Amino acid sequence: MIRVGIVGLGYMGRMHYRCWSGLPGAKVTAVCEASPKVLADAGKPTKGNVEGAAEHIDLDSLSVYSDLGKLLAAGEVDALSITLPTFLHADTTVQGLEAGVHVLCEKPMALTVADCDRMVAAAAKAGKTLQIGHCIRFWPEYVAARNLIKGGRYGKPIAASFRRYSTMPAWSPDSWFADEQRSGGQPLDLHIHDTDYVHYAFGMPATVSSVADPHQTYISTQYHYPDGPAIVAESTWRMAKGYAFEMSFVIVLEGATILYDCNAKPAFRVLTSDGSTPDLTLPTGGDGYAREVEHFARVLAGEPVDPVITPNDARETIRLVLAEKESAREGRAVGL
Ligand SMILES: NC(=O)c1ccc[n+]([C@@H]2O[C@H](COP(=O)([O-])OP(=O)(O)OC[C@H]3O[C@@H](n4cnc5c(N)ncnc54)[C@H](O)[C@@H]3O)[C@@H](O)[C@H]2O)c1
Repeated sequence: MIRVGIVGLGYMGRMHYRCWSGLPGAKVTAVCEASPKVLADAGKPTKGNVEGAAEHIDLDSLSVYSDLGKLLAAGEVDALSITLPTFLHADTTVQGLEAGVHVLCEKPMALTVADCDRMVAAAAKAGKTLQIGHCIRFWPEYVAARNLIKGGRYGKPIAASFRRYSTMPAWSPDSWFADEQRSGGQPLDLHIHDTDYVHYAFGMPATVSSVADPHQTYISTQYHYPDGPAIVAESTWRMAKGYAFEMSFVIVLEGATILYDCNAKPAFRVLTSDGSTPDLTLPTGGDGYAREVEHFARVLAGEPVDPVITPNDARETIRLVLAEKESAREGRAVGL
């Protein structure tokens, strides 16, 4: 049985709680949450841009801490889900690894490449598993699309465009999302989902060219692959109130077009040039959050699974987003 501590019981803490609660080989035994109000409201539903966070958490069955050091000193967890605001990811991940527990830390890994390096080194030194919560690598439609790209049946990729449109995250009481020093701004918080998927599906580009508004609440990036596909991704968290969260893509292969829009019915389609019927079977096991938590649990159980996301992959994605931010700021292409 994997004993899990959830650190930060906001929107994503509740999402991880729901995912861990669905796994027979694991049990959430402790939480660490600094806000008395958040703890007092644990029985009430929370808000977020994607459905699935636990509606209700019964704290009576858990050990409750407001200080991570005390939780770790109690020795009652094997692993942490770190679902804290981004600026706290690096220090708390290192603290957990140094205390001898495995860590599943939400994306983005950290605000700087130097902090990512500290996390990678701490995991290696401790000999513990570190996984970063890049849920899109586990999201069923994105997994199916990557399988079609890599499978080669429909030829090489020609082009792709990715879109992620959201209203401003408004669920956090102290608005840390709006503070670039704490969240890294929209590109590091929201756009990173597509950046990481581009990295995963097509590899590291040679250069990036981005445009953004002055506060980078919108960004659009062209990823350049010499002699490779033409890839673009755009995202914003400035959609007006009432806009339903949207993630979508169009991927053009030599012999097929793959389409996804989370709000469309059907959401996932594949059109083929030769009229053949594509395999539209999606991976099972729930949404990307449930599947990433299950993957982490399987790694801890010693199962021989495909790594999907190594700490170094997540570090490289941070390097890529920071290059996009620099490109938009300076109005020039940035090499990787
Ligand atoms: N994978 C995804 O799709 C996704 C979606 C949203 C957010 N995120 C990421 O998840 C992380 C958390 O985001 P969120 O939306 O859950 O934020 P949130 O503000 O809802 O939750 C953070 C919680 O941490 C608590 N906290 C802050 N400092 C603390 C400390 N020192 N010790 C203990 N508790 C502390 C806060 O009181 C709050 O309850 C961020 O890095 C964010 O980028 C990922």
